[in-house]
Amino acid sequence: MKDNNSDPDLAGEVDEALAAIAKVVSNRELEALRVSYLGRRGSVTERLKQIGGLPPAQRKAFGQKVNEAKASILAAIKARAGQLGERVRDEELSEDAIDVSLPGRNANQGSIHPVTRSVRRIKNIFGRLGFDVADGPEIEDDFHNFGALNIPEDHPARAMHDTFYVTSDLVLRTHTSPVQVRYMKNHELPIRVIAPGRVYRCDSDVTHTPMFNQVEGLAVGTDVAFSDLKGILIYFVREFFEQDLPVRFRPSYFPFTEPSAEVDMGCVFCDSKGCRVCQHTGWLEILGCGMVHPEVFRHVEIDSEKYTGYAFGMGIERLTMLRYAVDDLRLFFDNELAFLNQFR
Ligand code: FA5
Ligand code: MG
Repeated sequence: MKDNNSDPDLAGEVDEALAAIAKVVSNRELEALRVSYLGRRGSVTERLKQIGGLPPAQRKAFGQKVNEAKASILAAIKARAGQLGERVRDEELSEDAIDVSLPGRNANQGSIHPVTRSVRRIKNIFGRLGFDVADGPEIEDDFHNFGALNIPEDHPARAMHDTFYVTSDLVLRTHTSPVQVRYMKNHELPIRVIAPGRVYRCDSDVTHTPMFNQVEGLAVGTDVAFSDLKGILIYFVREFFEQDLPVRFRPSYFPFTEPSAEVDMGCVFCDSKGCRVCQHTGWLEILGCGMVHPEVFRHVEIDSEKYTGYAFGMGIERLTMLRYAVDDLRLFFDNELAFLNQFR
């Protein structure tokens, strides 16, 4: 329809525009088309600007036509935008689709620290033998860590412990033996108890660290003998290591036991031939033990004429290094993942 020269092929241009709009595949292209027709300099907009130059009689009809053209192009753009939106959503959805049949990604699983594993095994073994589990403070007073254990001030035995002092009367406990004292004061006889926990000494080399774990053992009753102690420790070693390893009881001295002994195990690193770890002796000390000294009973008001008891204190890292053949005790505290992951 060509009413006059101010309307050169408007209908044709609309058809062309609608065809172009139907073909675009992206919102960007669609927007470019909108600008080219309806933007400030768009071809349809340009036509509206021509209205002023027309004879007044034609203005109304021409204006109406251009507005209709504009409306139909706009409608087509809106419709296409709707379709494109759906398409984009479909594409996004298909990209994000989750294949529920794929195998899952493995979550990185942690593992129990070897020392903690040993503590659990120890509790389990002694639990089966009827031992309770107790604990005590890591910051201990002089009386419980030393005095009640028959280690008075100026006693040379204090030099056996390289003590970290908190104040002149408070120390980081140097062993788990103070738990014996606390437990005997608060429990009825007979007693059978173990007390695992951290202890501190100013000490560091391949078999010593400044913080380490001990487990105290204590049994008190009317007929507790050294042979019971020996039997229970040999049983423990066999259960803990799940094999028969050489064990020896060596006479020793502790102020809080009499008689006293230390127990050594054949060095697993050199088959007892002698190496750096066992300081070329073929043996590694794992615990101290003995019969509770009457002086200790006196401090906790137990009648040593009526009752006897045995006690022992084992180094948990030592047991762990022997069990897993770890040749440097300090590895347990470096927390290297490469090391810890071997204990899954
Ligand atoms: C004691 O600590 C005594 N309280 C043990 C005891 C308890 C004797 C009850 C009698 C009755 P000792 O200082 O020897 O004893 O230590 C006991 C064990 O702890 C040692 O055999 C060793 O296995 C371990 N141990 C000692 N010092 C360290 C250290 N710095 N690092 C790692 N383990 C250690
Ligand atoms: Mg010792």
